[in-house]
Amino acid sequence: MSAVAYEVDGEVAVLTVNYPPVNALSAATRTGLGEGIERAQADEAVKAIVILGGGKTFIAGADITEFGTEKSKAKPQLKDLQKMLENSPKLTIAAIHGTALGGGLELALTAHSRVAVASAKVGLPEVNLGILPGAGGTQRLPRLTGVEVGIDLITSGKHVPAAKALDLGVVDAIVDDVRTGAIAYAREALASGKTFVPVIERNEKITNVDPAVFAEARKTVGKKARGKIAPMVIIDCIEAACTRPAVEALAFEAEKFQELYASDQRGALMHYFFAERQARKIPGIPADIQPKPINSCAIIGAGTMGGGIAMSFANAGIPVTILDLSQEALDRGMGVVTKNYGISVSRGSMSQDKMDKALSLITPTTNYDDLAQCDIVIEAALERMDVKKEIFARLDKLMKPGAILATNTSYLSIDEIASATTRPGDVVGCHFFSPANVMKLLENVRSAVTSPETIVTVMEMGKRIGKVPVLAGSTEGFIGNRMLQYYTGEAEFLLEQGATPEQIDRVATRFGMAMGPLSMRDMAGMDMAAVSRKERSANMPAGERLSPILERLVAAGRCGQKTGKGYYRYEGREKFSDPETMEIIEGVAKEFGITRREFTDDEVEARLFAPLVNEGAKEIEDGTAIRASDIDVTWVNGYGFPVHRGGPMYWGEKYGLDKIYAMALEAEKRNGPRWAPGKLLERLAKEGKGWDAA
Ligand code: CAA
Repeated sequence: MSAVAYEVDGEVAVLTVNYPPVNALSAATRTGLGEGIERAQADEAVKAIVILGGGKTFIAGADITEFGTEKSKAKPQLKDLQKMLENSPKLTIAAIHGTALGGGLELALTAHSRVAVASAKVGLPEVNLGILPGAGGTQRLPRLTGVEVGIDLITSGKHVPAAKALDLGVVDAIVDDVRTGAIAYAREALASGKTFVPVIERNEKITNVDPAVFAEARKTVGKKARGKIAPMVIIDCIEAACTRPAVEALAFEAEKFQELYASDQRGALMHYFFAERQARKIPGIPADIQPKPINSCAIIGAGTMGGGIAMSFANAGIPVTILDLSQEALDRGMGVVTKNYGISVSRGSMSQDKMDKALSLITPTTNYDDLAQCDIVIEAALERMDVKKEIFARLDKLMKPGAILATNTSYLSIDEIASATTRPGDVVGCHFFSPANVMKLLENVRSAVTSPETIVTVMEMGKRIGKVPVLAGSTEGFIGNRMLQYYTGEAEFLLEQGATPEQIDRVATRFGMAMGPLSMRDMAGMDMAAVSRKERSANMPAGERLSPILERLVAAGRCGQKTGKGYYRYEGREKFSDPETMEIIEGVAKEFGITRREFTDDEVEARLFAPLVNEGAKEIEDGTAIRASDIDVTWVNGYGFPVHRGGPMYWGEKYGLDKIYAMALEAEKRNGPRWAPGKLLERLAKEGKGWDAA
């Protein structure tokens, strides 16, 4: 059966793409479209051709699963179809519902006209895969939207709602029903004799563009790109659209597409795309287990985390009841929530109307009884086991049967918390990251007895509230924080051995991290870290220690940004090197008999990131992480790891698991037994295999 259904409605041929789940432009879709267009051209009764998607969406882009395969090279290519539409003697119309993305929108941009239903979205998200819209997207879209908007849309990959797309001229009309609306639009256009100029010939918005626009874009986009190449190349292509004849600029775009397609970043970003989707699939859960409905949420604790979590639910339209013990704490918490929404409104990223709606969904209370009927309760109180157990024992008695009882702990045992209840199957960790209304990661944590139904519910809920959910097992620190201590720990050992804070942070940001590990410590504040490290230090295995640099800094009143000095000295937000820090570091090195030496940047880079890979492998080994790619998703969304490196485990595999293994052996000698390579890493390194063989 063809992937494209062909029907004729009077003088309009309707081509419906049926290639689930997202009607991607697979070889089968392209063949079906090619045949459909030819058939319509041959039928004298047909005067217009409408292309639409069956099921829930228009065409969401090229079929990514066929990238690099023979199928991707099969004729007709997308460009062949585009020519057929653009040069068609009969009127061609793209009728959009769901999403028209990537190659899907590029195809639509070669139709004579585009209509969309109000709920549709359009966009060119190729940048997220490390490529560019190489079928004329960088040439046609700016011809409709203007250059600045075009740069913004294509370098960000944003999905634009239909109403905005209409404003921008990307679509020509909004229709109520995609099929009947498009057919009616076609008939009207035929009746009126209206003519359409192909987008590629509309040059008004790309003529006489001030070159400063590109210089400025390179600055602002370059800052956000943090080492990604595709956004910068996209600007080059849009500039070419403005400065070269269309044929030449299209050829330039095609050449640049090929370059990006061959890049390591494309490989990493495509790995990440599938990793995020894979993370939602939990092996061993029967297919008939359905998520429970989550139509209301209770939160315990109106502090920074509780408030941020409340905002996440309210933003998704889910009513939240937030509890704190005193009215004062509650008022303070709600004050912060209101202020945060206010900032979004003043920045223009949220409308006042949306803010009012979100706030109206949050009900503060000091009365536990108000939580009882909620579908889920998320505890975000003090990070102490005795406090959590007391709260969960109370929730056990209070909450309606079947409610999910979740804790936002970042490292405590879910099994132990669950043991305080008579319904441990309903208990789960929902670890949000601060600021919880912004950060994408939701690390869901199961105990040994969390029920499959509870697991699928919190995974589904994560997606619904706009988070990227990952499932972890309940070992200390779960997936992310358990690894973090090795990254920051190695940074401190590097300081003792001769690196400087500036070098370490520079190397980390050069790598693409949102922030260096020591600047991160300064931002988070080090006095709290010193307290939690006291306990950890006391429980260190023999032959192991933490570097005392952090404690010495705190003792010298250098707690980080909040005290105006930490690893660095601060004037406002600006940071400066500080000789006093170096004195402390050199003092510690002397104390431990370490001769400091110079490190190359590459050495620092490998030393910082290799321990993450070793600990990640141990997590796969003991079941804390289901698969390596889940660890990648965790680190990209919770810890600022650069997505264009695919995540730490992907990076480690590319770097060489044999080299990571050798470095772990050295780290064991240098730092102690916890740094030793795990069995899985050892096996893969010796067999020359990757994570697929885990
Ligand atoms: N090709 C192949 N499969 C795709 C796909 C694509 N372009 N887009 C999504 N899928 C698959 C997903 O892998 C997923 O499969 P599984 O169920 O097996 O995991 C399934 O479709 C559903 O996807 P989501 O879970 O993401 O569903 P959603 O409803 O949350 O989102 C979406 C739908 C907005 C389309 C989202 O999937 C998305 O953003 N897809 C990527 C779109 C994209 O990047 N298009 C550009 C491709 S490159 C291109 O087009 C350039 C070119 O011509 C060469």
